[in-house]
Amino acid sequence: MPEIAQDFQVEYDWKQYSNDIRTNMNTADITNFTNWRVIRYTMFSQLSKGWIIDHLSKVSGWESKWKDAVEESPVGNPMPCEEYPQSSYNLLFQAWTLSHFLAVTECVLEEIDTIYEFGGGYGCMCRLIHRLGFSGKYTNFDLPPLLELQEYYLSRTVEGRISYLSDTGEFTGQLVGEKGKSIFIACWSISEAPISLRDEILNAVCNNTDYIFISFQTQHRGFDNMAIFKEFVDRATNYEWVFRRVPQATTSTCDSYYLFGRPICLS
Ligand SMILES: C[S@@+](CC[C@H](N)C(=O)[O-])C[C@H]1O[C@@H](n2cnc3c(N)ncnc32)[C@H](O)[C@@H]1O
Repeated sequence: MPEIAQDFQVEYDWKQYSNDIRTNMNTADITNFTNWRVIRYTMFSQLSKGWIIDHLSKVSGWESKWKDAVEESPVGNPMPCEEYPQSSYNLLFQAWTLSHFLAVTECVLEEIDTIYEFGGGYGCMCRLIHRLGFSGKYTNFDLPPLLELQEYYLSRTVEGRISYLSDTGEFTGQLVGEKGKSIFIACWSISEAPISLRDEILNAVCNNTDYIFISFQTQHRGFDNMAIFKEFVDRATNYEWVFRRVPQATTSTCDSYYLFGRPICLS
């Protein structure tokens, strides 16, 4: 399979990582993909997760929904969480992140028609959201090797109306044409993409999606992400915004934040 074409809007690091993922898909054991070095390095945080179970077990609907939703699938051979072996570190971390978004915005997944996810990694959030009761259309936008990995993973773990796009025009076209209730998700992803691509996507997201769910590191390859997202929020005046620091995902060199948006008419 060829390398990512020159005309993709992608930063140098993600060009390398996605080519590594493609090489792994051609040469390594895909049934063990969550243990590939490039996946562990780019997608898994090193945090201890005992406290996440403490948090999740207090979330409303833990017994009726969340407990079952965080049961891990064996696909990709994820490492079980020591403190909660029926789940994995990454799945618990994604669930913890999602629980904050849902609590702050009061968004109800069962009422959503469409979800647009930018940079969903191997598809962990997409699977989790379906297990929590979402039954609408789910569109994944990512680089081609990641989409292939998502398709491998999600076709084995989820029954849903899921599509995969790497063409920016097609993705923004769908966003702009959106008529139902929708969410845009970009966790630790759009903050790692070139400014031109962010602008194109976020301009389409603004006023066309109902809920916005972003997480980001304040610095990435010289980007001042906090300044960039503050500028975006200032333009998107139809939303009520919450920036929330994520001390648990902060490193010695940069901070992490959630950015949650919901339509102003809901407040
Ligand atoms: C750090 S991973 C985060 C994955 C997942 N959202 C998570 O929280 O674990 C970054 C994601 O953004 C995607 N990404 C990075 N640059 C991109 C670009 N220029 N266009 C599309 N997707 C991109 C990567 O392929 C990957 O899926």
